Amino acid sequence: ISLLKLNSFGIAAQALAFLRIENEQQLTQIRADAQLAAMPRLILGGGSNLVLSDKLDALVLQIAMMGKQIVAEDNEFVFVSAAAGETWHEFVLWTLQEGLGGMENLSLIPGTVGAAPIQNIGAYGVEMQDYFHHLTAFDFLTGEVVTLDKQACQFSYRDSIFKHDYRDRMVILNVVFALPKIWQPRLNYGDVAQSLVAQGISAPAPKDISEAIIAIRRSKLPDPAEIGNAGSFFKNPIVSAELRDSLLTQYPAMVSYAQTDGGYKLAAGWLIEQTGWKGKALGKVGVYHKQALVLVNLGGATGAEVRQLAQQIQADVKAKFGVRLEVEPVFA
Ligand code: EPU
Repeated sequence: ISLLKLNSFGIAAQALAFLRIENEQQLTQIRADAQLAAMPRLILGGGSNLVLSDKLDALVLQIAMMGKQIVAEDNEFVFVSAAAGETWHEFVLWTLQEGLGGMENLSLIPGTVGAAPIQNIGAYGVEMQDYFHHLTAFDFLTGEVVTLDKQACQFSYRDSIFKHDYRDRMVILNVVFALPKIWQPRLNYGDVAQSLVAQGISAPAPKDISEAIIAIRRSKLPDPAEIGNAGSFFKNPIVSAELRDSLLTQYPAMVSYAQTDGGYKLAAGWLIEQTGWKGKALGKVGVYHKQALVLVNLGGATGAEVRQLAQQIQADVKAKFGVRLEVEPVFA
C-alpha cells in the first residue's frame, strides 16, 4: 500500500497494511485480532508532521472519526469537543463562526484535531495547550478508553507524552477545548499586530486576527498541496545565557528570545540561513527559499534523502554555532 497521498511531504512510502478507522469499535477488533495486534503500528492523522521511511513495516491506522460540538459551559468557559479526524483548520474556523475566540492564532495549521496534542501545535504566541481541557484515547495496551487531562499529557514546546511513552500506544479519539468567555487578542508575536495596523484595524475581532495570520502563513510557508513539506523541520533550540552571549559578540544580528528559566530560544531558521542552506538542495530535497526552517520535496524525494539533508544541516549548524538542532516532525 502506498502512502504517497497520505503524507504532506509526499514520500512514496510502502506500508505493510492499512486500515481506515471511523469508530472506536474497530480499534477493539484490531486489538482482539492476533495477527493485527502483533504488528507494529503507525497512527496517522493528516500526515503533515511526519517523515516516513521508504518501506514501513507497520500497520497504518488512518484516524477518521468525525464530529464537533459545543458540549458545556460554566461562568468562564465554553467547552467544545471535536473528534480526532476533523481537520484542524476547519475546526478553528467553526469555533470562530460560533462566536468563540481563542484559537484564531492557530489558523491554517495543517493536520487533524487528533494530531494537534501530539506535538502541542503552536504559532504566533499561542500553543494548543493554552486552550486544551482534556482528551479521550483508546489505549492499545489495556483495551480501555482513558480520559487524559492537561497534566497527564505533559505538554511542552512542540512536545507531549504522545511522542514518547504513549507513542503508537494511545489513539486519540476526541479532544475537548475550553474557550474563554472573556476574549483577549494575543498580538505580541512578530508581524501580526503590524499587519492589522496596516489594514487600519485598531480593535481586531478574532476573525480579523485569523485572516491576518492566514495571510502571513500563506506568504511565508509553502502550501503542502503544491510543494511537499512538513512545516518547521527543526525546533527552535534553547541555549544557555553564556552561549547566547558569546554567539552575540560574534553575530550581533542573531535572533534570540529570553525564556523564563534564564535560557534563550534561538531562531533555527536564522541559524540555518547563516550556514548558507536557504534555497539550496541536496538531491530532491530543498531548503525553502522563503523560510529556512522548512524542508521541501522538489519532486520524488525519498525518506532517506530527507534524513540525509536533515543530518547535513544539523552537522553544519553544530560546526558553525555549537548548537544542536532537534528535528520537529515524527520520524516513522
Ligand atoms: N528567520 C531567518 N531566516 C529564515 C527563517 C526565519 O532569519 O529563513 C528569522 C526571522 O527573521 C525571525 C525568526 O527567525 O526573526 C523567527 O521566524 P518566524 O517568525 O518565521 O518563526 P519561526 O521561529 O521560524 C515558528 C514556528 C512555526 C510558526 C512560527 C510562527 C517552530 C519550530 N516553528 O517558526 O511553526 O508558524 O514560529 O509562530 O517553533 C511548525 O511548527 O510547523 C511551524 C510552521
